[in-house]
Amino acid sequence: MNNRIKQLIVNNQEWANRYAEEHPGIFEKLAKQQKPEYLWIGCSDSRVPANTIIGLQPGEVFVHRNIANIVNHSDLNVLSVLEYAVKVLKVKDIILCGHYGCGGVKAALERKEHGLVDNWLRVIKDNYRANRKQFDGVDNEQEELDLLCELNVVEQVKNICHSTIVQSAWLSGQQLSVHGVIYGIEDGILKDLDVTISSIDQVEAIYQLES
Ligand code: CO
Repeated sequence: MNNRIKQLIVNNQEWANRYAEEHPGIFEKLAKQQKPEYLWIGCSDSRVPANTIIGLQPGEVFVHRNIANIVNHSDLNVLSVLEYAVKVLKVKDIILCGHYGCGGVKAALERKEHGLVDNWLRVIKDNYRANRKQFDGVDNEQEELDLLCELNVVEQVKNICHSTIVQSAWLSGQQLSVHGVIYGIEDGILKDLDVTISSIDQVEAIYQLES
């Protein structure tokens, strides 16, 4: 093990000691079960650590992260997380968190080759194309990136709601809301994009599962 990793192990021991001191019995409690009330789907970006920015402790939020916080209907990873969170953990709120200055969204705006990730990010180009008109008045790259970061959040919120998992939960009467927020890496502030969806009739008819 190199010194950098050894340092992480030391950091961890210090953290575990301090955390157990501040929260007596916490590890014994967490060892028995997890009962998080939220599912967080965010970007892998190291500057957007879920628990830290929303002030939650271990055990309080179930987390999935990938490049550019994409919810793709053929991605078994995100679907498995979503199903477990909804069916087993029975979370009441799903938070889709994007962030300004997202490298994935920026890459999608470019016409360069970045590797395999270009295929993953292609849906963001699709989203740009679908919302092309909204970019008409936008005259600089920063604004363009900010807008696409926001539109990506809106799209992924819809994708979550279109999934059979969320549709089935709503049909069975389960209380579940999906929220879209965006984080500013330059100021640490989380902004609600006000696109919360809480029921089946809020999604377009073609996606609605019949009871
Ligand atoms: Co990102």
